[in-house]
Amino acid sequence: MATDLPPPPGARPDWTIDQGWATYTQAEHDVWITLYERQRDLLPGRACDPFLKGLDALDLHRTGIPEFGRINEELERLTGWTVVAVPGLVPDAVFFDHLANRRFPAGNFIRKPEQLDYLQEPDVFHDVFGHVPMLTDPTFADYMQAYGQGGLRALNLGRLHNLARLYWYTVEFGLLETAAGLRIYGAGIVSSHAESIFALDDPSPNRLGFDLARTMRTPYRIDDFQQVYFVIPSLQALLDATLADFGALYAALAGQTDIPIEAVLPDDKVFTRGTQAYARRGGRTAA
Ligand code: PHE
Ligand code: FE
Repeated sequence: MATDLPPPPGARPDWTIDQGWATYTQAEHDVWITLYERQRDLLPGRACDPFLKGLDALDLHRTGIPEFGRINEELERLTGWTVVAVPGLVPDAVFFDHLANRRFPAGNFIRKPEQLDYLQEPDVFHDVFGHVPMLTDPTFADYMQAYGQGGLRALNLGRLHNLARLYWYTVEFGLLETAAGLRIYGAGIVSSHAESIFALDDPSPNRLGFDLARTMRTPYRIDDFQQVYFVIPSLQALLDATLADFGALYAALAGQTDIPIEAVLPDDKVFTRGTQAYARRGGRTAA
């Protein structure tokens, strides 16, 4: 996305807007409540403990779409993060600058009742329910800030496509290994009822140990369930793996080809060797 776009009319120079909480309709609050209750019933035993703990701490239910000002009191106290409202997707540089300053940009609109299961653009349910609980975890909070700083650098170095894959396979679609089994921490999974089941239970996708360079060489799907999920041993391990300066890694990646999305390599730590049956069937379009 171009980085020099002006903000839309009514938005501030950093693209933030007022959430406009008072203008949500009851029907919009009801969409939140429906989505919230479905995930609340599904996620214990699927989402990782830091996510479930964060969900409780922020008390995201109440009577509907949460007011960001209320969430921010607790979130800021816990990790210094805040949620800011934006009209939708923002340019990369704007997004990274917010993250680097511990601000999470969240869309203020909510999907329509007929889009409960799938929508193209992240809405307030994906952004707040999906992302914000993990921001209450101090380690993950540090990771997200570091990612923002790294994003600005990747942009300048022309390696954003590699770094974006790291975001995708961790922040959006990451799995965590625990003594009790695999658990979800990725926002794209926890905010989707169907993928919260698919990501853990379906025999189709590969589930492979996280490796920084490998992840950055793996393309991803934006329009359907993932064909591969990467599993981290701990949030601290993720943060540790990304602390080093990526300059040398980016230079090495420039000479390397992408890894086919469904590949399992000899060096991969294999949690599940997927059948890829879902993708071969044609995925969502065949469903
Ligand atoms: N260490 C990375 C760099 O030098 C920054 C980063 C940290 C990127 C965490 C992603 C996640 O660019
Ligand atoms: Fe997201």
